Formats: sequence, structure tokens, C-alpha cells
Amino acid sequence: LYIRGETMSTIIYAHRGASKHAPENTMPAFELAYKHGADGIETDVQLTKDNIPVLIHDEQLNRTTNGTGFVKDFTYNELKQLDAGSWKSPHFTDTKIPRLDDLLAWNQGKQLKLNVELKNNIISYQGLEDIVCQKLNEYKMAKQTVISSFNHASITKVNDKNVNIDYALLTGRRNRTLIPYSKKIKAKGIHIGYRLLSNRLVTLANENKLYVAVYTVNSPITINKAIRLGCQALFTDVPKLAIDIKKRRFA
Ligand code: G3P
Ligand code: MG
Repeated sequence: LYIRGETMSTIIYAHRGASKHAPENTMPAFELAYKHGADGIETDVQLTKDNIPVLIHDEQLNRTTNGTGFVKDFTYNELKQLDAGSWKSPHFTDTKIPRLDDLLAWNQGKQLKLNVELKNNIISYQGLEDIVCQKLNEYKMAKQTVISSFNHASITKVNDKNVNIDYALLTGRRNRTLIPYSKKIKAKGIHIGYRLLSNRLVTLANENKLYVAVYTVNSPITINKAIRLGCQALFTDVPKLAIDIKKRRFA
């Protein structure tokens, strides 16, 4: 799937959708990413009180909705009353918190790649791995999806389940065991913070048959570096900028 080298395209994932110009992790942000030609969408998933997987980054509702408190303390019916758009701009008033189902149903005709990040670092959501894998299978979207998490124990659980879905370790910190551990649990790749990006790490990972994806690159300098070093994927809030840069590099 992933071959290193400048002649091979770096996959462009819209980070939380096209989140610079639309409210992150909402359908308008996913729509805009699609319109701008992103290869894929990265999104964060958590569970409601009634175990519905919803797409939202923070454990609390305060920053990106007009609600307060923890996602886990509300049912989906309660959460769907909230406005997850107007914090960004009045243009997006009444945008809802989407369910994972909403994204998967929307993607049926589009077939974008997906990176579903399990947001179980602070809150431990029982059964999140199973629920996400089941949904991906139900919508026949397992093949184009990679699951990731900062919670490496959770990724190990995905491995234990023997599901036919790719998974990757996420980290923003230097960690000597990252590559051997990723190999051990049969991860397909590593998703690293930009600070960690180096030629050495990309080479080492690729030699170990692990792909490298880097987050979150929003400027021409950082996007160019990710492509130049041969990262197999990047995450950006501005997919249009990344696509334009990529086109220019390979023109
Ligand atoms: O998955 C890449 C990136 O999204 C990880 O950080 O905090 O934006 O979810 P965060
Ligand atoms: Mg994320």
C-alpha cells in the first residue's frame, strides 16, 4: 500500500475534516475536504452515555459546542440538540455533532480513506475498539480505514481481536521502543507529531515496513518537509494547500 519515495504521492488526510475553514469533526468540514480533493479524512471518536460513537475531539463539549460537560455523560439524543458549528462562524449555526455512522454512510459513494482516531487517552471507553470495528465492517469500510490511538494498549486490543483492519500507533513524544513495539503488535504504521519528523525516523520506519504519517502540518514549510522526506501520509487542517503544494512539486 505504501511505498516510499518522492515519486509516490503522500496521502493527504484532512485533519478533523477541512478544519481551518469549517467546524472540526462536522459534516460541513468533511464535505469541504471532499470538495477540495483530500485523499482522506482523519476524525476523533468517543462514546456517548448510550454507547453511540460520535465524532468530537475534546472529552468535554465546551470548546466546540454550546454545551458543557463530558461527552460520556450525555445520550446521543441529548448531544444532537447541541450546536457544534456556531463557535466557528454563524454560517455554521446548528451544525450537529456527527455520529461515526453519519460519516460512514456519507462516505459510501465517495470512498475516501479514513483515519479513525480512538480518543480513549483520558477517558477509558469500554468497548470502543469493538464498536468502531463493527461499524467499519457494517458499512464495508474496513479496507480503506486505519485506526489509531495515543493509547497504545487500546491499539494492542485491536490487534488481539484479529480484525482485518489496519491500525497505527500515534505519538507526539520521542520513544525508543516505538518501532519495535509497532512491529510486535503488527501495526501498519506510525503517526507522529511533526516535532519528531526526521529523515532518520522515516528511513528506519520504512526499513521496518512501517509507513509514516505526520500531524499536523498546516504551513508550506511543514507540508513541503513531510513530502520531501517521503512521509507516506500527512494530516492537515488545510487540505487544499497541501494538494496545491503536492501538485506543484510533481508538476
Ligand atoms: O491523528 C492525528 C492527530 O489528530 C492527533 O492529535 O489531538 O489532533 O487528535 P489530535
Ligand atoms: Mg485526531
